[in-house]
Amino acid sequence: MGITVHPLSDVLGAEIKGVDLSNILDDVTVRDIHDAWMEHLVLLIRGQSIDDRQLVEFSSRFGSLDGAPIGSERGGKVSTDEHNEITVISNVIEDGQPIGGLGNLESDWHTDMSSYDEPPAASVLYSLEIPPTGGDTSFCNMYRAYETLPREVQAKLQDLKAIHDATLTSTGGLRHGFEAVKDVTQTPGARHPILRTHPETERTALFLGRRTNAYVPGLSVEESEALLDMLWENSTKAENTWTHTWQVGDLIMWDNRCAMHRRDPFDNAARRIMHRTQITGDQPFYKPPEVTPTAA
Ligand code: OGA
Ligand code: MN
Repeated sequence: MGITVHPLSDVLGAEIKGVDLSNILDDVTVRDIHDAWMEHLVLLIRGQSIDDRQLVEFSSRFGSLDGAPIGSERGGKVSTDEHNEITVISNVIEDGQPIGGLGNLESDWHTDMSSYDEPPAASVLYSLEIPPTGGDTSFCNMYRAYETLPREVQAKLQDLKAIHDATLTSTGGLRHGFEAVKDVTQTPGARHPILRTHPETERTALFLGRRTNAYVPGLSVEESEALLDMLWENSTKAENTWTHTWQVGDLIMWDNRCAMHRRDPFDNAARRIMHRTQITGDQPFYKPPEVTPTAA
């Protein structure tokens, strides 16, 4: 019995049914999930009941896993000594210590850890406890963000890079060891091409990391701000997004190479606990698509 794939919107996202992640999946099932993922950018698998070992096992079928970025990146910590690949995303405080990162705050649109030279290819988030309201997670389609730009803008972007800020967390806090950016031309963080060729689908996506402190080297600050504002607005407009309301036992995997995400805030009196893994990526690049000669 194979899996079935159910698209969740016209923008991106598909639900995979017919899979129990507490089992070791066979290669055909993994391939089918992978193919659906490349087509739909974000996958949802509901009603799961898995432990950290099973989450690590499932995630690692799609690539090697990064270790949890203890403290530095998201203020999260590893959940157990055995599973360094698990990061906890939570607002819960135990014995005066946060058990995970991101708290209950809004997290603005971002690509995970894009300030790194080799940012993660993908992230997998599994829900253990969910507040009654709030904390929804939204995704936007960065292929479409590119495809819906005017031709002349697409052409201009081919040669541009952007600096991806390393100083702020996705909830806007200053990361340990960084100073607040005063001049965006000096923002610390990786420089990546604004157009990105997806290494597996070979499609072109727009690649934005975080709006705050971003800068396009070679342009004046004014030009850079105007261009980035336009690109961000086009990418995150409602018709290019899909929002997920979580239930306990949901697993979502998203592809950071062609989708950005954000999260709504929620009441801090409620508890939200997610366990997360991250699939290692490589250096973003842009290779112009080969032009197929058209008949004269
Ligand atoms: C993340 C993230 C969103 C959420 O884990 O990278 O942005 O819904 N999480 O908690
Ligand atoms: Mn994130």
